[in-house]
Amino acid sequence: MKLIIAIIQPHKLEAVKRELEAVEVNLMTVTNVLGQGRQKGITEIYRGAKEIGNLLNKVRLDIAVNESFVEPAITAINKGARTGNLGDGKIFIIDLHECIRISSGERGGTAIG
Ligand SMILES: Nc1ncnc2c1ncn2[C@@H]1O[C@H](COP(=O)(O)OP(=O)(O)OP(=O)(O)O)[C@@H](O)[C@H]1O
Ligand SMILES: [Mg+2]
Repeated sequence: MKLIIAIIQPHKLEAVKRELEAVEVNLMTVTNVLGQGRQKGITEIYRGAKEIGNLLNKVRLDIAVNESFVEPAITAINKGARTGNLGDGKIFIIDLHECIRISSGERGGTAIG
């Protein structure tokens, strides 16, 4: 199991969600966040007001998946989020130790989704 954390441009959320659903990745947590990349917000100002200092509004997706969904999900996020410009975002992949579905008590791969 892996936890995919993707930081994307807020206006790309719908497109990313559509691409993820096309590869049957439907379960996710979406959070509005503030972020700073390597340009420290400087070259992205024209696309959105700076919030605090050099921090820009971004959207974070947390997606826990079984191994076979990892590459399809990465491809889908890239497809939905990429414009080719700086600030398009980043994807982090983390080994996921456990998943527990509280309603049923299931654990691991069957609990994920
Ligand atoms: N190393 C990092 N650690 C934590 N968050 C990061 C990291 N790099 C990027 N982010 C997050 O991703 C968001 C988007 O980053 P961004 O796409 O600007 O990355 P970048 O490294 O500056 O690449 P680019 O040069 O393509 O803009 C940032 O605002 C921040 O929230
Ligand atoms: Mg950047």
